[in-house]
Amino acid sequence: MASLWSCMVLFLTITSVVAAELKPKGLRVGYYRYTCPSAEAIVRKTVETGLARNPGLAAGLIRMHFHDCFVRGCDASVLLDSTPKQTTEKDSFVNNPSLRGFEIIDRAKSLIESHCPRTVSCSDILAFAARDAASISGGIHYQLPSGRRDGRISIDAEALQNLPSPFSNATQLIQSFARKGLSMQDMVILSGAHSIGVSHCSSFAGRLYSFNATHAQDPSMDRAFAAFMKLRCPPGSASRTGPDPTVPLDYGTPNRLDNVYYKNLRKNRGLLTSDQTLMSHPSTASVVAKSVGSPADWAAKFGATMVRMGSMDVLTGKKGEVRLNCRVVN
Ligand code: HEM
Ligand SMILES: *[C@@H]1O[C@H](CO)[C@@H](O)[C@H](O)[C@H]1NC(C)=O
Ligand SMILES: *[C@@H]1O[C@H](CO)[C@@H](O)[C@H](O)[C@H]1NC(C)=O
Repeated sequence: MASLWSCMVLFLTITSVVAAELKPKGLRVGYYRYTCPSAEAIVRKTVETGLARNPGLAAGLIRMHFHDCFVRGCDASVLLDSTPKQTTEKDSFVNNPSLRGFEIIDRAKSLIESHCPRTVSCSDILAFAARDAASISGGIHYQLPSGRRDGRISIDAEALQNLPSPFSNATQLIQSFARKGLSMQDMVILSGAHSIGVSHCSSFAGRLYSFNATHAQDPSMDRAFAAFMKLRCPPGSASRTGPDPTVPLDYGTPNRLDNVYYKNLRKNRGLLTSDQTLMSHPSTASVVAKSVGSPADWAAKFGATMVRMGSMDVLTGKKGEVRLNCRVVN
């Protein structure tokens, strides 16, 4: 009898653990199956059209989802426009002018509202759009649990407080992700997103011109690569108040989400301090080496980690709201 009971308890424990895995924090795959069956297809189509016009927006959407999730959870707080009373995350210097792809979210939202009004949240639309961007730009496909609801608060200063800095070293990056419940490995795997998109010169010009008291140039940057970057980011241009040109984060395959990012790091061709520093720490360097060695394994982990990042501090059930316009609270 006792053993029957322990069997039952074990069984119930296992099923609830499995259920918790399948439904992170109340999210589930196919959440809109009955309430808005076309939701995911509409987002997919809208992202396809948008990326056909401008492939660079794949990077914009993936970064936008990351910047949403790290600040108050994935609640579409990054999509809210500033008001006379409150400057929002969107207008923090970490997001403005660099964050891009908002029109794709607006277009998907208005199409979805015309099919199924007041049903699909902006935070889910953004999460779907980032997923589709990874699928189109990298052939990385994953099922995405949904059921997020939208928050009503967005404060500019919280973006800088919660997002990691491009000037961070590996230890600081590990800490920044740990505060969000993500591991060292998660951090290195997600940094692979820097295999697409661009950076403004101001985000790394210090590595070219003013590294420290004894070295003008960061010795951890390949010299030929640095010389080339100086041409793209001439002195004086590379500040937020100057013209501040942009350059691809991954020169090899700038629109392809792949593991070339990690190969670049091994050649000292990481663009940001926060990229190249992954080679400076034995634990992060070993995840870099594995990602170079097995692209398929990196891609699978990237998808799984995006799903976990996408369930960070989400609002579900009766919390939050389903915004009618992603730029303003209801
Ligand atoms: C590890 C810490 C990270 C730091 C310090 C960081 C910082 C940055 C910076 C400074 C830029 C360039 C912005 C500019 O100057 O225009 C950038 C671009 C980008 N980041 Fe990150 N990032 C990090 C992690 C991530 C993660 C986790 C993702 C997504 C999963 C991501 C996705 C992107 C993408 C796709 C771009 C290119 C955006 C575009 O072309 O519009 N980053 N990041
Ligand atoms: C990383 O940065 C922190 C804070 O600036 C510093 O205390 C630490 O020594 C740095 N770590 C390494 C390995 O450089
Ligand atoms: C400048 O950076 C180099 C390379 O990281 C280092 O060896 C040197 O000690 C640093 N100099 C100063 C003054 O911090």
